[in-house]
Amino acid sequence: MNIIHRRGWEIPESQAAPEHLFMSRRALLRGVTALAGVTSISKVGCAEGADPTADLYPAKRNEKYKLDREITPEKIASYYNNFYEYGQDKYIASHAQQLKTRPWTVKFDGMVEKEKTVGIDDLIRAMPLEERLYRMRCVEAWSMAVPWTGFAMAKLVEFAKPLSSAKYVKMESFLDSSMAPAQRLPLFPWPYVEGLTMAEATNELTFLVTGIYGKPAVKQHGAPLRLVTPWKYGFKGIKSIVRFTFTDKRPVGTWEVLQASEYGFWANVNPQVAHPRWSQATERDIGTGDRRPTLLFNGYGEYVADLYKGLESEKLYM
Ligand code: MTE
Repeated sequence: MNIIHRRGWEIPESQAAPEHLFMSRRALLRGVTALAGVTSISKVGCAEGADPTADLYPAKRNEKYKLDREITPEKIASYYNNFYEYGQDKYIASHAQQLKTRPWTVKFDGMVEKEKTVGIDDLIRAMPLEERLYRMRCVEAWSMAVPWTGFAMAKLVEFAKPLSSAKYVKMESFLDSSMAPAQRLPLFPWPYVEGLTMAEATNELTFLVTGIYGKPAVKQHGAPLRLVTPWKYGFKGIKSIVRFTFTDKRPVGTWEVLQASEYGFWANVNPQVAHPRWSQATERDIGTGDRRPTLLFNGYGEYVADLYKGLESEKLYM
């Protein structure tokens, strides 16, 4: 028998979920599999036509954002995902084809001059698309480097016209169990929710993603609109967004609801602050399999460290 002695950080990535979820994982997977059988996954995936914004890709690369490592091969990054609406392991790409990304609307509400709802294609065409190469560090201690296409969230905030009294933006993923059967199961407080301060949302790094690898985003990465904040752990990167609510109350994200002692609001990458169940000192590059040291703010400190001055009493790194 092969007995593996794991060091602290070498937990199986499946166990990085909050404990009660991990315990219920088998039940969930049984449920997802049974529910997935209700709908024919491949038929739903094939029923949609070409992406109506396909002509916008590839967008010009913004050379300002450089990588210190190779781009992760597309076939690896796009088949190793976290998207709990489609199951709790990494191999949800085929299940995620049930997601219908058109028609798709995005709502802007809360503390805004005027509430509005826009069609995703109008929104994408109103925004200046560019490609950026960013590193991504998951709280589970794996990482990748990806060419995302999208636009600075600051542009979306301009478009939304929040009131000056708004301090945060809360974001919500879709809620529709007809295209995400796992949403019929009570393990998560659906829909998936995340939030940022206004200063974070308008930081130049904060990116709303519409495409990946020079093409419209694929469903498993959170098409048609997904957040990327490369200095934070990957769970902040909410997928398939339908709503932005501007507010003066700090939003409580899905993972904070599930296990606040392990997953907080700020979630900034810091190799020196361990997760309660494993070290964050190093990460496994899913492209090469190599383990490398993790960098403070995932190496983006020059852009974001100032955001946290005066907030030292907060739990900035979980
Ligand atoms: N967004 C939604 N709606 N549902 C999810 O389960 N998972 C998060 C984040 N966004 C998640 C989500 C987590 S835990 C991670 S690490 C990243 O998406 C993974 O993004 P990727 O699959 O594109 O690598």
